[in-house]
Amino acid sequence: MSNDLATKLREGTKQSHTMAENTAYMKCFLKGQIKQEPFRQLLANLYLVYSVLEEELEKLQNHPVVSKIYFPEINRKAKIEQDLEYYFGENWRSEIVATEAGKRYVHRIQEVAQTEPGLLVAHAYVRYLGDLSGGQGLKTIIRKAFNLPEHKGVGLHEFDALPTRDEQVAFKIKYRDALNNLEIDDILADKIVAEANTVFRLNCNVMHSLEEIVKTAVGLDIFNELIHGHNTGSTEENDPKLVTQN
Ligand code: HEM
Repeated sequence: MSNDLATKLREGTKQSHTMAENTAYMKCFLKGQIKQEPFRQLLANLYLVYSVLEEELEKLQNHPVVSKIYFPEINRKAKIEQDLEYYFGENWRSEIVATEAGKRYVHRIQEVAQTEPGLLVAHAYVRYLGDLSGGQGLKTIIRKAFNLPEHKGVGLHEFDALPTRDEQVAFKIKYRDALNNLEIDDILADKIVAEANTVFRLNCNVMHSLEEIVKTAVGLDIFNELIHGHNTGSTEENDPKLVTQN
């Protein structure tokens, strides 16, 4: 019997998703004004986030709830390592640091893993489905902005196990089915949705923490021009794939 968690997550995080799309960082990014310094700093933070997320997921791979959304074939850590080497050079390990917001994000994953592991579902959902969704569009923007050679600098959004769009869409359907089939009660489902909103906030905070770097990189005039206005969120629009799915 379906618990409808996939729909609950999508519906219950729409506003948070819109908030993420409307951060100054993302507004500049979407308009092609993405520069290497703010991008590599985002990668550095996400590397530390994914390292701990994937470590905790691996430790909990036999947990009754976590095991059902454990798909190591989509792990990001090794792919981001390639990106960091590309953007920082071979000594990247000694150069990357998390911002305070990045540290709080990492800490929250560890806390959840220790106190209520089922909530890791929210952490995995927000990042992996995000990278497989809007992330695919961001990849095109990054490639163009940095004029990247094939398979360089876009590891965050490159899924070796899912090389085609069709395979990615099929995987997202499989992921949503796995969410819907989790053996959880309504209380835990609601907590997972609440945690997913927290995860969006943690992501937004990381982007806010890099805003000064974006400003310096694109210049104040362009920055002020680009952050103007409000974009309707992508998950607020009707998606026929999901209507048939749910
Ligand atoms: C400005 C950048 C972004 C754009 C353009 C964007 C775009 C989209 C689009 C079009 C979808 C729907 C895809 C589909 O249903 O197949 C989507 C879904 C999603 N995005 Fe984003 N996104 C952005 C940023 C983010 C961020 C920063 C996060 C989280 C950190 C995120 C997390 C998600 C998640 C979890 C979903 C899946 C929603 C669901 O169907 O349950 N997105 N995004």
